[in-house]
Amino acid sequence: MKVVCTEKSQILAVRIADHLGVQAVETRFSQFPDGELYLQVAGPLDDETVIVGSVTDNDAFIQLMLLIDACEATTNTLVIPYMGYARQDKKFRDGEPVSARVAARALSRGVSDVITVNIHEKEIARYFDAAAHDLSLAADVGEYIKGRGFADPLILAPDSGAADFAMEIAAEGGWQADYLKKTRLSGEEVRMEPKTFDVKGREVVIVDDIISTGGTLATATKMLYDQGAYAVHAACVHGVFTGGAYVRLRAAGVKSLVCSDTIERACSAFTAANRIAEALKKC
Ligand code: R5P
Repeated sequence: MKVVCTEKSQILAVRIADHLGVQAVETRFSQFPDGELYLQVAGPLDDETVIVGSVTDNDAFIQLMLLIDACEATTNTLVIPYMGYARQDKKFRDGEPVSARVAARALSRGVSDVITVNIHEKEIARYFDAAAHDLSLAADVGEYIKGRGFADPLILAPDSGAADFAMEIAAEGGWQADYLKKTRLSGEEVRMEPKTFDVKGREVVIVDDIISTGGTLATATKMLYDQGAYAVHAACVHGVFTGGAYVRLRAAGVKSLVCSDTIERACSAFTAANRIAEALKKC
């Protein structure tokens, strides 16, 4: 078994290879003069290949499809640590595509198993034409929070969709968990409805699967401070941080902001590698 990866998933891929005790094979990336992407796997592969690539943007998506094709002579397991396009998981309006289905089908060609991490909606698994396994980093987020030594933190999901995730995290430390009700006003603006719990004087850790524009968390943070929270921290699995999201959140008063390495960031504070490596051993 060997591991290959796309350009933006190199660190996580090497961590996975290290956990498995196998080699990560270099892939060289370049572009044709017209901008089309090119890649070449630079070393020999074994019978089995683990292909690691987060779909962080369109180029990463194309690279991942090219890489799967480059590995056509081997049995492939695909690891998609962050699966972009997953939020358009249904037709919300007439004339729209189901983008998650498009991405899943395209990425299934030439692989026998697919591993995702905290995919936006678990139902997306059915769109893969391969055995699909979704992993949760809730316990890893919980371990990270434990390491921070907060006194009796409240683990808070910004919406009901993340409530189970928050409860799983809270279970790691025996902490209290709750969620806010969110109404989206536009792509970047949300309104939080009044909540019933008391955050006065407490340290609050907002947890979510994805932080994208930061609109969700910025609104929540302001509201929590208005209600007397002592400090607001944030942790997510996938740190998309579109535009100025990181600065926006710190400016809104988020004391610390971390994510995993499903998208490799300077604030990646915990890794998905162990959990992915263990799942690969079972595939
Ligand atoms: C939504 O359902 C997700 O769980 C996240 O809450 C959302 O993607 C965050 O988006 P943003 O950071 O743009 O508010």
